[in-house]
Amino acid sequence: MRENEFNFIRGLVYEHSRINLGPDKRELVSARLGKRLRATKLTSVSEYLDFLKTRNDGEELGHLIDAISTNHTFFFREIAHFDFLTKSVLPEMKARARQENWTQFNVWSAACSSGEEPYSIAMTLDETLGDTWPWQIEATDISYRILAKATAGIYREETVKKLDPPRVRRHFQRGHGPQEGNYRVKSTLQSRITFQQLNLLEGRPPFDHLFQLIFCRNVMIYFDRATQEELVNKLTQQIVPGGYLFVGHSESLTGIRHPLQTVRPAIYQRPLNS
Ligand SMILES: C[S@@+](CC[C@H](N)C(=O)[O-])C[C@H]1O[C@@H](n2cnc3c(N)ncnc32)[C@H](O)[C@@H]1O
Repeated sequence: MRENEFNFIRGLVYEHSRINLGPDKRELVSARLGKRLRATKLTSVSEYLDFLKTRNDGEELGHLIDAISTNHTFFFREIAHFDFLTKSVLPEMKARARQENWTQFNVWSAACSSGEEPYSIAMTLDETLGDTWPWQIEATDISYRILAKATAGIYREETVKKLDPPRVRRHFQRGHGPQEGNYRVKSTLQSRITFQQLNLLEGRPPFDHLFQLIFCRNVMIYFDRATQEELVNKLTQQIVPGGYLFVGHSESLTGIRHPLQTVRPAIYQRPLNS
């Protein structure tokens, strides 16, 4: 891929998703573009770019961003977050709920990828809160393709088998016949999660309530500092005073201006009086 072609794609991807593709990503982009060439049955990068320019509906751009962005995720990634959720966040929030008449515990999994993160949160809440306090999870991602996988809630046995067996029995149904080797998240758990497409950097989040907890993990790493700062401040506005923001462990907020207090590595809290 020529430098000017790479720069064109870089600009387009940045404009749409603010994913910041450094010069070192040229080979990666080139490799991922191969997939799009095959899918569109075009034979060269320049033909593909012409195709992109003439399609104004954003559909192919969406596929391109999908092909370039990394959706890597797994159940209970960064387990310390789930321990903190169980041992600190939930007892604290339950006590506050009584005082402040909160009707529901709301969590947002922003950039949820194929669903392992929101389902891990749901398993934790189901096991800890059960039906003692209503809870609900919003799960969003920019990619329609990955959201379709998340919504289906079907995972390969190799992935699910890494969880404790009682957890698997409680939350998954084993597939039979053509579904042999697959596990499906039980509908009772699935019904607690609303999946929707959302570009975190476009407009205001479409929620009419605040969240006690937001997970926004392993996505900011693709954004430049200015974009990270904008996003963290936007997310902060969606958190109840005293609520929490969890980011990925490699995504320290050092050097970013924000009103949050650091609680633990990669765990931040909105001050109560803010
Ligand atoms: C590496 S995955 C992280 C998944 C999960 N949060 C975790 O930590 O395992 C990053 C996700 O961010 C999504 N993403 C990238 N840019 C985005 C944007 N501007 N708005 C919303 N999601 C975005 C990608 O589609 C991808 O699914």
